[in-house]
Amino acid sequence: MKRRGFLGKGALALGGIVLPQKLFSNHHGPFVLPTSPTDEDAVKDEAYWSSIRLLYEQPKDYINLENGYFSPMALPVIAAHQQFENHINKRTSWFMRKNQEDAIVEARKVLAQFLKCKTDELALTRNTTESLNTLIAGFPWKAGDEVVIGNQDYGSMVAAFQQAEKRHGIVVRVANVPIHPRSDEEIVDAYMGLTNSKTRLLHVTHLINLTGQLLPVAAISNAAHEKGILVAVDAAHSVAQINFTIEELGADFVGASLHKWMGNALGTGFLWMKNQHIPSIWPLMADSDHEATDIRKFEHQGTRPIQSLQTLKAAIQIHESIGTELKQNRLKYLMQLWCKEVAEFPGITVLTPWNNANRNSAIATVSVTTYRPVDLANKLLKDYNIFTVAIDHPVIKGVRVTPHLFTKPEDVLLLAKALQEIAKY
Ligand SMILES: Cc1ncc(COP(=O)(O)O)c(C=O)c1O
Repeated sequence: MKRRGFLGKGALALGGIVLPQKLFSNHHGPFVLPTSPTDEDAVKDEAYWSSIRLLYEQPKDYINLENGYFSPMALPVIAAHQQFENHINKRTSWFMRKNQEDAIVEARKVLAQFLKCKTDELALTRNTTESLNTLIAGFPWKAGDEVVIGNQDYGSMVAAFQQAEKRHGIVVRVANVPIHPRSDEEIVDAYMGLTNSKTRLLHVTHLINLTGQLLPVAAISNAAHEKGILVAVDAAHSVAQINFTIEELGADFVGASLHKWMGNALGTGFLWMKNQHIPSIWPLMADSDHEATDIRKFEHQGTRPIQSLQTLKAAIQIHESIGTELKQNRLKYLMQLWCKEVAEFPGITVLTPWNNANRNSAIATVSVTTYRPVDLANKLLKDYNIFTVAIDHPVIKGVRVTPHLFTKPEDVLLLAKALQEIAKY
């Protein structure tokens, strides 16, 4: 029974509800939530990672190395989701009128505990796009105000700033983030070098989805605050993948999704903002239920799937049974396994600081000379059954590879072999 926690015969207590064994249709025998190993070789403890793999249902017809879009819910989270949905479906308006509020308050509380932030600075949204669009559309812009964004920021946020440019007459400057930076200062300078007395906001992607590069947000926030400039962070890929707290970022606004690395139900995210900024930001959907100073004004959406918020407790419980640090290290280990096999191979370029522990993550992007990104992704799928995603961005062109906790080392090694074969012929 080495390294295994046992939570009860025939049932698993998760997220405040007890899930009967029969809900785990592909499990035989009592359901076990493994206890994470603590020794220094934990990232390579394949017995432990095999038991983690049992928490997920996997496609049988391809190797999934595109886990950046969203993460699957673990089986217990799906089971909890189904139970909560059944309950709401049975109770209908009774639940919505009498229990909905408590469920939202509880979800906000468990998330704030995980993020180590205050509940009155946290709004539960549907995703990062909504969170940051709320900020960008609701910021009290004046014509001539300036913002600095990054050249590898996510398209929806870039579009939101471009819309604010047309709508409010703001000026958007774009920092060139180096692909292989030599120092944090180089990145800080890329943003700060574009600021002036009119700059109101910097928008920084904590973990760049195109390459997996982690940016030094705290250093950028410090430099910006010295000049009285606010900082908004896109933390879509860092929350529940990278070991950090909201406070450590030193930012003013943070948006993230909970259906990515937290593995919660699709359509869940959050907007965090420092208390002092709440009154000055307009909500995306007009709200008359809360004071202008109340973070909950940002949660106005109309009828929403509350079951997806109720599952947060179970998703966090599973995440914490592994621990963010071990999860981050395992994901980096899988990324490095394949990157080190191909990084020096003729004709292959890794577009990620894969061997710099302060700047890397699960995600890495690779290109093969003479292959367009889409052709490389298609070849990997057709000839090797490996599913990735082509990135054809103005500054990043390659195939993005994102392993997950259920990824086997042999899967990423097969990818490395495939890339070498493709580059050779
Ligand atoms: C860096 C980054 N920001 C924002 C998003 C948008 O996330 P969502 O679709 O959950 O709003 C993504 C999605 O992949 C992303 O990679």
